Amino acid sequence: MGLKTRDDAGIYKLRDDLAIIQTVDFFTPVVDDPYSFGRIAAANAMSDIYAMGGTPLTAMNIICFPIEKMDISVLQETLRGGLDKIKETGALLVGGHSVEDEEFKYGLSVTGTVHPDNILTNRGAGPGDRLILTKPIGTGIINTAVKGNLVKEPLVNEVTEIMSSLNLTAAEVLKSFDISACTDVTGFGLLGHACEMIEGGDVGLKIYPDKVPLIKETLNFARMGIVPAGARRNRDFRNQYLIGADKIEPAIMDILFDPQTSGGLMIAVRDDQAEELVSQLKGKGVKDMALIGEFIPEPKEKIVIEGQG
Ligand code: CO
Ligand code: CO
Ligand code: CO
Repeated sequence: MGLKTRDDAGIYKLRDDLAIIQTVDFFTPVVDDPYSFGRIAAANAMSDIYAMGGTPLTAMNIICFPIEKMDISVLQETLRGGLDKIKETGALLVGGHSVEDEEFKYGLSVTGTVHPDNILTNRGAGPGDRLILTKPIGTGIINTAVKGNLVKEPLVNEVTEIMSSLNLTAAEVLKSFDISACTDVTGFGLLGHACEMIEGGDVGLKIYPDKVPLIKETLNFARMGIVPAGARRNRDFRNQYLIGADKIEPAIMDILFDPQTSGGLMIAVRDDQAEELVSQLKGKGVKDMALIGEFIPEPKEKIVIEGQG
């Protein structure tokens, strides 16, 4: 895969019927509980394999740890969380590397496999295709609110569950449908990754903000201005792609560009298969998914934000 299209992982074809997918992701803790952080970081790293239609095969730990300042049990619990997630995917942990660092960071390098005919990329959606999102958004905003001690425990737990849940089930369901494009929603936010699906291509995209599933209280916090700086940076970077954004409430635009940790898959599917895909995803427990938009022939390379209604 070329670097130009900002795809989720690298792919190398070994044989006509086999390619490997490689990806690496690591970051500083996004939650206080180390075991949960391990699960989230691993789910996040695995996601790029699923976004490209693959199956994770092996994983390696990447660890940066301030051994002088932090108790070793924090690292042990993080690794336990990561390993539990790796096991859930069916992949094997085969090693890793750790260095001493000022700030704790953890993640995985993952290798997966895919049949070259079944590779999913973020390009390829055609006019009429529908856009599906498989997880609610708002993790950046909620995590910012958590740092300000504004979030009660049930919501902290709920967001932790969302971030640590694998995109595995959704990826399995996709295999029996005609998927024209797929990516996962992470640091660039919903609209940032939506832009990846249309830039340089032959279609535009219409997004319905009122259909986008939100984590509880996301809108409240966004209206209070509790928005990570990344959301504004994401918007500045992609503003020229947007049509109609000026008519949308600013808090909603912040949410649509909110950087996600371990977000859901964003899937382009043929119009006549969209309803069936939705019902199968729901049937398999991907419950907070929704149809959030549709690819349009014109205007090309633009995202039309269709106001509330
Ligand atoms: Co990705
Ligand atoms: Co990634
Ligand atoms: Co992406």
